[in-house]
Amino acid sequence: MTPLDRVPDPRPVPSGTGLTLEDALPAPVSGARRPRLTRTVAETRAALRELSAAAEGHDDGPVTVGLVPTMGALHGGHAALVRQARQENDVVAVSIFVNPLQFGDPADLEHYPRTLEADLDLLAAAGADVVFAPEVQEMYPGHPDAPIVTVSAGRMGEVLEGASRPGHFDGVVTVVAKLWNIVRPAVPALRSYFGQKDAQQLAILRRLAHDLDVDVDVRAVPIVRSPEGLALSSRNTRLDAAGLGHALVLSRALRRLRDAAEAGEMLDVQEARRMVEDEPGVTLDHLVVVDRATLEELGPELLCQPLRREALALVAAHVPPVRLIDNMVLPPAVGAP
Ligand code: PAF
Repeated sequence: MTPLDRVPDPRPVPSGTGLTLEDALPAPVSGARRPRLTRTVAETRAALRELSAAAEGHDDGPVTVGLVPTMGALHGGHAALVRQARQENDVVAVSIFVNPLQFGDPADLEHYPRTLEADLDLLAAAGADVVFAPEVQEMYPGHPDAPIVTVSAGRMGEVLEGASRPGHFDGVVTVVAKLWNIVRPAVPALRSYFGQKDAQQLAILRRLAHDLDVDVDVRAVPIVRSPEGLALSSRNTRLDAAGLGHALVLSRALRRLRDAAEAGEMLDVQEARRMVEDEPGVTLDHLVVVDRATLEELGPELLCQPLRREALALVAAHVPPVRLIDNMVLPPAVGAP
């Protein structure tokens, strides 16, 4: 096997839990061409202009570019985003940038895994054309004294995950607004891909596009799960075999709610919370049912009857040494007005 036959494994997966290496990695590269690596805004725009012009006239519709923002340390969940972008667009761009604005704890930022070589192999296999991997000074000239003007996620950024990570979502919307502004002028039409796993981030970014009239189509990509149901996350690789087993309670509890919603039954959120609380090695942070678009929590009066519109069950819990999140969409009852 040559080094290119297999993406190197930067984050080994603990054994004995049904999670395999394939859950964390994409398919073998088998000679896929590496994407073009750009380091500056100017290089990125030039590459996207060139690739968009080359794609002109390839098929009927207008040329579209799919952008997948990431912070690197890529796994199978990211590969799914890139593959969907590949299927739906003429040109696929991925950004890899560990955004200091969204980290509260400097130690977290410092220890965030940086695995560019492995990421480029994964992106080659998934079909990316351009990878924009800027230094901090390219994105925020003058950092840490800049940027002075930032974007606020407002009240949607203060609840749920935002309550545990003050300022996190302001950092996310600021960097994503910049990425869209970097790419959009260089391409005829822009779609941007985010995982449903980070449901709050997704809802806030949809709001960013809507509230600031950004000309971008925000697309959600379904959660990728292990065969047992654990949502893929780079954090899973820090769990030992026992932790990986305990963590499965999150998707079990969410599934209980989804099954009830599908059956048009009342949603027993207390019972779902108890399931998580009773699991050894797991400390529940929150388990709530919220409106999918506004993230406002549904009160008991809405939970004790069949759902009228789509909702979202969200859970966050500590499974030492990590904090995990997961969610499931709850469909409205069949025939609901
Ligand atoms: O989800 C992430 O990896 C990050 O929050 C994002 C969207 C790339 C912004 O830095």
